[in-house]
Amino acid sequence: MMNIAVLVSGGGTNLQALIDAQSRGEIQGGKITCVISSKPDAYALERAKNNGIPTRVIPRKDYDDIHSYTKAVRDALVEERADLVVYAGFMTILDSQVVEEFEGRMMNVHPALIPSFCGKGFYGLRVHRAVLDSGVKLTGATVHFVTEDCDAGPIIIQKAIEVNNDDTPESLQKRVMEQCEWKILPKAVSLFCQGRIKIIGNKTEII
Ligand code: GAR
Repeated sequence: MMNIAVLVSGGGTNLQALIDAQSRGEIQGGKITCVISSKPDAYALERAKNNGIPTRVIPRKDYDDIHSYTKAVRDALVEERADLVVYAGFMTILDSQVVEEFEGRMMNVHPALIPSFCGKGFYGLRVHRAVLDSGVKLTGATVHFVTEDCDAGPIIIQKAIEVNNDDTPESLQKRVMEQCEWKILPKAVSLFCQGRIKIIGNKTEII
């Protein structure tokens, strides 16, 4: 069984999707063993506690710079013996220390079709606002491996939906979460824990 550590900062609906998939027996070969939050008041922590999952809070504001913060998170992940690290609405870009330690074992869910609407500054509702401003007709979500470059690691799964004329950033965010993120994140985690994701350069193959 692989130990899955989930990094969160907010509401934790993606964490909930992982917990629900685990309850249904859909995370094969892995178990959520720890949830780490960058914010003490993240509702994601309640979701973990309600399901008996150990939690840690490592507040971003307690650290002067990203280097010392990354070190604290990395040390916690090593202590927790994480085999897979999942960024599920984790809003801090960690530096290379964590990527070196967990290369090819760390994934992120992003609320758009990478390589569009991603990178520094594209998070949460900002992504959906940018999608609406651009006039694209399709959007969706991406699960990808985390590398040093923000949102640029090998893509594992993507799912697309149509943008409607009357969408607001909030309505689009809701549909992208419900129809894309909450489906593809548990799927990618399960594939990883079964050893079914092969990384070839900056691409992946599901085997
Ligand atoms: C999700 O939509 C996630 O994709 C996004 O933040 C939301 C967190 O929701 N992440 C990013 O924008 C990262 N670039 P949640 O806390 O309810 O899972």
